[in-house]
Amino acid sequence: MQSERVLVTGAAGFIGSHFTDAAVAAGANVLSVDKLDYCGNLMNLAQVMDHPNHRFVKADVGDIAKMSELLREFKPTVVVHFAAQTHVDRSIDTPLSFLENNTIATTHLIEAVRLYYEKLAQDDKARFRFIDISTDEVYGDLDVNDPPFSVKSPFAPNSPYAASKAAADAFVRGYGKTYQLPVIIVHACNNYGPRQFPEKLIPLVIDRIRSGQSIPIYGTGENRRQWMYVLDHVEALMAVVEKGKAGAVYNITSGDEVTNLKLVRTLCALCDIVIAHPEGRSHAEKITFVKDRPAHDRRYAMDPRDVDDALGYRARTRLIDGLQKTIDWYLKNPEWLAAVKSGAYRDWVKRYDEK
Ligand SMILES: NC(=O)c1ccc[n+]([C@@H]2O[C@H](COP(=O)([O-])OP(=O)(O)OC[C@H]3O[C@@H](n4cnc5c(N)ncnc54)[C@H](O)[C@@H]3O)[C@@H](O)[C@H]2O)c1
Repeated sequence: MQSERVLVTGAAGFIGSHFTDAAVAAGANVLSVDKLDYCGNLMNLAQVMDHPNHRFVKADVGDIAKMSELLREFKPTVVVHFAAQTHVDRSIDTPLSFLENNTIATTHLIEAVRLYYEKLAQDDKARFRFIDISTDEVYGDLDVNDPPFSVKSPFAPNSPYAASKAAADAFVRGYGKTYQLPVIIVHACNNYGPRQFPEKLIPLVIDRIRSGQSIPIYGTGENRRQWMYVLDHVEALMAVVEKGKAGAVYNITSGDEVTNLKLVRTLCALCDIVIAHPEGRSHAEKITFVKDRPAHDRRYAMDPRDVDDALGYRARTRLIDGLQKTIDWYLKNPEWLAAVKSGAYRDWVKRYDEK
């Protein structure tokens, strides 16, 4: 990693900020970029903000002139593209914003990258990679007994979010094939861990238990997802940077599959130990089933052996341990959660705007 110059997009978000930490810690030179949408939080980059090998620039990846300028100036050896709007419920409310930020912005970015790549010297071309971080949701819905998705599964997105990511992936792939651009596409399962925006299921449940509120679950809670601790995903992505092959697609998963109901019950049981229920009962009594999300996919699943075979990578954190670490982090960092909920995290933007 030490010789890499890594441009990270969406770096102030959940996974992007953990990846940025890891890349800086591994000795890479990192330019992190984020438009600081509502999920973009510069507090997430606090550990690296003043590091000599790191610089942050506020920019929209859809701004082709700005991204071209940054590419020319920074001369990355690798671009790791996390920037996206990511909440399925919001995509149902504002689908065009997802088209704009995920599909159109990614296409502008890959066009800026193409123009940059074409001017590189042959040696620099040989080592350059564009890594597109996508999701298992592009593959659509599985039945409980279906085999898991593979990298050859067709795309069948069922939400505006999944559609916007699938369309972005299609442009990235198309650019790779048409312009011989060295692109890699990663489809990851659900991530969880510290610094995840509290609209997402796991931090939402922890926060609602903390504040004694009801715990909403869509439908009957039987929808099944695979969950991977964010630092495991980051470790896999570091392997992709080091060993990933141009043109490859990697499905990255822990293989830890549970229903939403089981996940939430497990969180409640873990929280029962560290957050006393006022009447000494389990927080699980606060679970409330709410009207299901439209087109709510029943199941996503990928095979962890795929990425093991391709990159020699296996997730290390068992779900129960990762959930415990996540609860511990949220309980030890109430100021992070309070700043996000009150909007005070935006003050960090003013401190570092266009630094
Ligand atoms: N979180 C998961 O479980 C998960 C699973 C699989 C794949 N992914 C993918 O990983 C990536 C990161 O997800 P996350 O959970 O960290 O999301 P996040 O919402 O926490 O962070 C996304 C970041 O992207 C920024 N952003 C959005 N649009 C932008 C634009 N046009 N220009 C610049 N910045 C922009 C936001 O400000 C935010 O900081 C996304 O592409 C997502 O689709 C996430």
